[in-house]
Amino acid sequence: MVRAVARIDLAAVQRNCARLKSEVGQGTELCAVVKADGYGHGAAACAEAALAGGATRLAVATAAEAETIGRGYPHIDLLTMGALTPEDLDSALASGAAVAVWKPGFLELVAERARAQGRVARVHVKYDSGMGRLGNRDPVEVMALARACADSQHLELSGVWTHFATADEPESEFFDEQLDRFGAVADAARAEFPEVTVHAANSAAVFRDKRAHFDMVRCGVAVYGLDPFQEKPEEHGLQPALSLRSHVADVKHFEPGDSVGYGRTWRAGAKTSVGVLPLGYGDGVRRGLSNNAEVLVRGRRYPLVGTVSMDNVTIDLGPQTEVEPGDEAVLIGSQGEETILAEEVAARLGTINYEVTCGISARVPRVEK
Ligand SMILES: Cc1ncc(COP(=O)(O)O)c(C=O)c1O
Repeated sequence: MVRAVARIDLAAVQRNCARLKSEVGQGTELCAVVKADGYGHGAAACAEAALAGGATRLAVATAAEAETIGRGYPHIDLLTMGALTPEDLDSALASGAAVAVWKPGFLELVAERARAQGRVARVHVKYDSGMGRLGNRDPVEVMALARACADSQHLELSGVWTHFATADEPESEFFDEQLDRFGAVADAARAEFPEVTVHAANSAAVFRDKRAHFDMVRCGVAVYGLDPFQEKPEEHGLQPALSLRSHVADVKHFEPGDSVGYGRTWRAGAKTSVGVLPLGYGDGVRRGLSNNAEVLVRGRRYPLVGTVSMDNVTIDLGPQTEVEPGDEAVLIGSQGEETILAEEVAARLGTINYEVTCGISARVPRVEK
């Protein structure tokens, strides 16, 4: 019996990567995005499974993540996608990771630090085609940065890339605008630097438009079997890899009017039994799920009642229950014929599946299924 555990189906991660690889075809590399501890699934184990499934590269956001992954997979081409402080830059380069660059001053710093470390830094020049976040908005400056890389003995131009703002919105025309803008930059970069890796697509873009595949795709959410469009993963042949499990620690009998939890936000309308589960928002079960979620026990859905506290949640088991202390409780995942998807939890919270799995706290061990 476990207090709370996130079980990770690494075979599902592997299959999801094979699925993504089949979608993009031989000519396009799959880069598995394992930032934020693999979207809460455990970065190292998921990286391994992703590589087994056909990913040939890995990407992270931060220098600390690059250090962890770079140490574990020194032979794999790793990209640090985020903005780096000078200290971060030193450690990202020391990890052997490629770095994202979009400003001339930062490119100079990369060259200087690479020289100091006695290495050649691999650079992915980022074009901001409309995300309005990281990247250079001027295609002329993007090409100038690419040339500066090619001209420096301490730099290697590895990639030219962008990121979509609305790939997950099927009706969005802005996606096509970004694709057009980036397409022109990609053509220019390829004409001058035939070896450069041109990349743009996240998971949603992979399923949405083959024109966005270019030389490499950077997939995160789909690697973990989460639906980039917030519906059903199976519609894209994806299998959720994470389940969040706990157990029933106690079963209590309630009389009409008895209340449960902080603020007494739920009261029994009739005789019933309440199950107590020993996990809460300290584990990432968000307080917004108070009186607003379901939990699986013995293959049936039960409503979460009362306020989610830091270490406990409570469920209404009904007047005649066979549920006993020790029974497994599933907050995300399958039990018997029933499944609660991260997408369902996200919809209840008014958020996205990414935030649900990233939000499962470090207090919950990640264990291979
Ligand atoms: C720059 C960049 N590329 C790729 C990804 C992966 O996106 P997704 O998880 O939607 O596949 C992310 C994730 O947010 C990102 O920030």
